[in-house]
Amino acid sequence: MAKFLTASDLNEFKLLINEYRDKLNRSGQKLVVAKAKYSKKEVELEFVQRYETEYRENKAKYKANAHTKKFVDNINLVKTKISKAKANNSDLTELLTELQTAKQLLKDARFSLRDKGNSAELSKINKVALKLEDIKFRYKDDFPFAVDGVSVEVKHGEYVAIIGHNGSGKSTLSKIIIGVLKPTSGAIAVYGNRVTSSNLSVIRKFMGIVFQNPDNQFIGSTVKDDIAFGLENRRVEPADMEEIIQKAAKKVNMHEFLDHEPLMLSGGQKQRVAIASALALSPDIMIFDEATSMLDPKGKTEVKNIMVELKNTREKTIFSITHDMDEILNADKVMVMNAGQLVKFGTPSEILSDKNFLRSIHLDIPFVAQVEEALEEVGLKLEHSESLEELVERICQK
Ligand SMILES: Nc1ncnc2c1ncn2[C@@H]1O[C@H](COP(=O)(O)OP(=O)(O)OP(=O)(O)O)[C@@H](O)[C@H]1O
Ligand SMILES: [Mg+2]
Repeated sequence: MAKFLTASDLNEFKLLINEYRDKLNRSGQKLVVAKAKYSKKEVELEFVQRYETEYRENKAKYKANAHTKKFVDNINLVKTKISKAKANNSDLTELLTELQTAKQLLKDARFSLRDKGNSAELSKINKVALKLEDIKFRYKDDFPFAVDGVSVEVKHGEYVAIIGHNGSGKSTLSKIIIGVLKPTSGAIAVYGNRVTSSNLSVIRKFMGIVFQNPDNQFIGSTVKDDIAFGLENRRVEPADMEEIIQKAAKKVNMHEFLDHEPLMLSGGQKQRVAIASALALSPDIMIFDEATSMLDPKGKTEVKNIMVELKNTREKTIFSITHDMDEILNADKVMVMNAGQLVKFGTPSEILSDKNFLRSIHLDIPFVAQVEEALEEVGLKLEHSESLEELVERICQK
């Protein structure tokens, strides 16, 4: 059967439009600057003409690509196949589904054209939320690599904790993942979409981020305004906002605080609001950058519980950069960073099975594991426990 277009072709189309639009905007700005310089007699006419040519070329490129012909052709191709199949009395089911898909692709392509590729949203081409291939980064040419050849694949729905001693490259890596820093070399794909410098803003829509300091994350004068802010930025219909805000606030158990002033909340509550603000934009990936490190024990527990609840829905992929070794027990997988390298990637029990290794790279071990070890030293060997409750239970049974 002839190959029909897929979501991946639509993504490529969106990215291309975005890229050409971006180039066109930039050369437009350069032209304005050149003209201003010319009017102040700072440059020759030739200088302006050069930018005029560049602008015209970019405009031509944009026009040559900014049309939906291939999506229309695609529908016609499906229709031709359907007529043939009808003539041969073959099964039409599959082709009719293809027709639906082809129509939807055209609709989406038209939408993103109208939008000039700006608010385009990419589809998930596969279930790998994040794929890093040999990522390297250094802050300056003669500096050592702060991230030194990290490769990893994380599936949708997983909760991944990133740990490592101070200076091991966790923050640098998270900045690369959210697109704040551009890797010196290596490739990144988010749900199968290769990240490039021209599609960063579109890729970022997959992600929601909660930072360390609860006080630096507020803009609105009430909790509700704060959650609404991100939605307004995304130009969500005002009529839809109320429901989205309520739902997000409920997920973090802050729905009764919508009219409260953010500054009056406790640290844990503030972080929960920050989580709600991120969730309201329905990201597929949530990144917690030491989100519990500045909280008191109660706040820490509150936020960690929300993270576990989120994990249990399996609707989001979660990355949590943390110094809290107890938190890693909640994760499905743990990335252990040392001197810019990913030295281990495995389940919490795999990681914890080599306590001496963790110590050798200056990491603590979780409280539960410390108690187990201490008990073993005095001759009480217990099966490994995942939580403090489980451990207490095991001790009581002895
Ligand atoms: N802006 C910068 N300019 C130059 N070097 C930097 C910069 N930020 C970090 N580094 C260096 O890069 C390396 C990795 O730092 P990074 O902040 O990523 O580590 P980290 O694991 O997040 O540490 P911490 O646990 O202390 O937050 C360190 O050697 C650090 O000194
Ligand atoms: Mg850091």
